[in-house]
Amino acid sequence: MPNSAAVRNLIAAIAVSGAVLGSVPHMTARASGEPSKGDRALGEYLSSECVTCHQLSGQFKGIPPIVGWPEDSFVEIMQEYQHKKRPNQVMQMIAGRLSEEEIASLAVYFGSLKSSR
Ligand code: HEC
Repeated sequence: MPNSAAVRNLIAAIAVSGAVLGSVPHMTARASGEPSKGDRALGEYLSSECVTCHQLSGQFKGIPPIVGWPEDSFVEIMQEYQHKKRPNQVMQMIAGRLSEEEIASLAVYFGSLKSSR
């Protein structure tokens, strides 16, 4: 994809206009109250912040690797940081800024990567 962020913004704009509401899959899911599904491209975009600390190779260099996890465990841990059930101030702050959809998207992206350990 040439510029997935721009494409997303465009899709969002069209969806918000209501013209194609119902033909955009994740908008329909939201409307029916299902949990939001992650979007890998959004996850990849958001991951640029995470990988300044977390090694994409899955190596442990003082900071634990976060690749190749089942999506639900990833989401659960991020929510524990959001609710401050896990004690790390940096991660609490980072998780606190993320929406449910963004966390689901990060889970899809990181979960799709393989650890090279
Ligand atoms: C400033 C450095 C830094 C950034 C940026 C960062 N993290 Fe972390 N993260 C950490 C550290 C340090 C830990 C380990 C905390 C601990 O052991 O209590 C951690 C732990 C985690 C864990 C739990 C790992 C485990 O094995 O328990 C997850 C999941 C996680 N981070 C995801 C993310 C995501 C997703 C992002 C980007 C949105 C992110 N982190 C950005 C430093 C960072």
